Amino acid sequence: MEEKTQKQIILTGDRPTGRLHLGHYVGSLRRRVELQNSGKFDEINILIADDQALTDNVDNPGKIRDNIIQVALDYLSVGLDPNKTTICIQSALPALHALTFYYLNLVTTARLSRNPTVKAEIQMRGFADEGLPAGFFTYPVSQAADITAFDATVVPVGEDQLPMIEQTREIVEKFNKIYGETLVLPKAMIPENETQRRLPGVDGKAKMSKSLGNCIYLSDDAKTIKKQVNGKMFTDPLHLRIEDPGHIEGNVVFTYLDALCTDEHFAEFAPEYANLEEMKAHYQRGGLGDGVCKKFLINVLEETLSPIRAERAKWEADIDSVYDILQAGTAKAVEKTNGTLARVRSAMRINYFDDRSIVKEWKKVLKESKQ
Ligand code: TRP
Repeated sequence: MEEKTQKQIILTGDRPTGRLHLGHYVGSLRRRVELQNSGKFDEINILIADDQALTDNVDNPGKIRDNIIQVALDYLSVGLDPNKTTICIQSALPALHALTFYYLNLVTTARLSRNPTVKAEIQMRGFADEGLPAGFFTYPVSQAADITAFDATVVPVGEDQLPMIEQTREIVEKFNKIYGETLVLPKAMIPENETQRRLPGVDGKAKMSKSLGNCIYLSDDAKTIKKQVNGKMFTDPLHLRIEDPGHIEGNVVFTYLDALCTDEHFAEFAPEYANLEEMKAHYQRGGLGDGVCKKFLINVLEETLSPIRAERAKWEADIDSVYDILQAGTAKAVEKTNGTLARVRSAMRINYFDDRSIVKEWKKVLKESKQ
């Protein structure tokens, strides 16, 4: 479809497999709220991708069910506003399942095998040895259904999701070529800089993960955060005495400060420095201890997370309202995605019962077959 006249529509989502953490905040949630409030988009849709989460949690549906509320609370508490953003649950959108089924014919298994994200995940989850569930193998196709069902033009995602968007674009192009211009071609929007792209765990490991215990969750209390920073945060192993010159590279305290702190934080909590550059310079020269830096980081984290925590507490006290928000958002999404499915069926000419026009066609077919 013509992009100039196209409405600007965002669709993004998360698998509800756990509470969201600081990595999600820095890499995506913060940006979503900005996009929501920018006024530049006609529609913003966020999908709680429970069906996709089931593709590698088939034996643990309870985990997915429980985490839908955690993720929804995380969304609401960072400032996603249900009046501006539609939050919906994937499994309650039947059009997505139907679209997936049709799109599966537009990709080859060879192409799916080459998807780098799927390849990496197959290794990570041990599917290479245990056997690969067909549903998991084809989840990029279901993600293409998610994206196209909402007519998304922009898909804000982490870098690891680029292969999904690429595959979606191929499906869109193929569909439109065969059946005529029907689906909207989406673009990925990835985080602007390295710090946002991947916030390491507190221990310096590349990724925050529940099993490594190296996360800071948005819903953590102040005490837990302090413990993670003081007890586990990786700094500079060569910085033994305060006077020693310190290293910034790979030092998680400074990585987190890069992602979160502002000059105002310095004015408030460390007025001896005007900004992070000055603090870094002091650390590199020597004479600045890790304890002081960590204390500053804890202040910055508190300043960032305490409003989120307070907002969460309000919603936690009113889960009925969260249910209503999800139900209303999902109802809206059902309508929208059913519309796309109707368009797709009609493009494929399998919309037999929209009207009786095929009766006339069938009669003609029969007449011709007898000639
Ligand atoms: N695959 C995404 C992730 O693991 C979640 C997701 C599902 C998604 N459907 C989507 C993201 C559609 C963007 C658009 O994070």
